[in-house]
Amino acid sequence: MLMTNFLRERKSVREFKSVNVNKQLLDDIEDYLRLLETEEGSGDFRFVLYKDGNRLYDGLKGIGGYSGVMIQGPHYVALEVMNSQDKSIINGAYFMEKLITRLNSLGLDTCWVSVGSVTQGEKVRLFDDLLGDINYLLAFGYRKPRNPFEEIPFSNRLGLDEFVYLDISGKKATLADLENRGLDDLFYYLRYAPSSFNRQPWRFLLEKEKVVLLMESSDNRESALVDAGVIMYYFVELGKAIGINTKWNIINSNQSIDGKEYRIVGEIVL
Ligand SMILES: Cc1cc2nc3c(=O)[nH]c(=O)nc-3n(C[C@H](O)[C@H](O)[C@H](O)COP(=O)(O)O)c2cc1C
Repeated sequence: MLMTNFLRERKSVREFKSVNVNKQLLDDIEDYLRLLETEEGSGDFRFVLYKDGNRLYDGLKGIGGYSGVMIQGPHYVALEVMNSQDKSIINGAYFMEKLITRLNSLGLDTCWVSVGSVTQGEKVRLFDDLLGDINYLLAFGYRKPRNPFEEIPFSNRLGLDEFVYLDISGKKATLADLENRGLDDLFYYLRYAPSSFNRQPWRFLLEKEKVVLLMESSDNRESALVDAGVIMYYFVELGKAIGINTKWNIINSNQSIDGKEYRIVGEIVL
């Protein structure tokens, strides 16, 4: 499926059938996790597959997920970040999203699950051989069929004219500005990227030959970096469709735009 369609259609699935993914497919997924770790290559994070999701679910019920609403998946992949560097968290999230694309292509559905408020003691008890820190899981499996009378959940998205700045005075790019740069489609679909609590904290500064990624100030550093990694992944994948084949350069500085403080997380040459 084209990345554009994929992004528009992708939705978090929070109710799964209580059917396991077959053993061969789980083994293939495990191989793919190793492939992703090798592709990234730094060893700064690892993915841990929990084939039996029940034990994890029972342990995290009431404490994992938004306000303790744990998502019950038949299986989970934990994102274990081995150190607290920004790039480890950003890249971990980037590759988690790449994993989601693969799982989706295999007919599987997913939901990110935040477990950052679970105590260290509980984490050590629940996660096998914990060496780094786990603040995010991915629940995956086959979605429960929807009740046709139930309203389809809908997560709002920012308008195309709301999140791309042309300069630090706060002037926003219009559709025509984006069209002139050939970036209208890219930003149109990028808005569908998931984010923690659907906060959509990303903003972009469109410079002459590069795009700068800014994140709204947040009291949760890790959450902002994870959301940054997710959007960086989709930017790269959507960029490929319009001939941009460059990688993000991760940086860490601050920028005030129209009196509001942002953190610069990365830039990408167009
Ligand atoms: C880093 C991250 C953490 C998330 N944590 C949770 C969570 O703990 N519980 C949950 O129900 N959804 C979680 N989500 C899903 C988001 O709420 C969801 O992606 C967002 O609301 C947009 O909805 P959509 O994915 O259906 O488009 C998380 C998403 C991200 C990217």
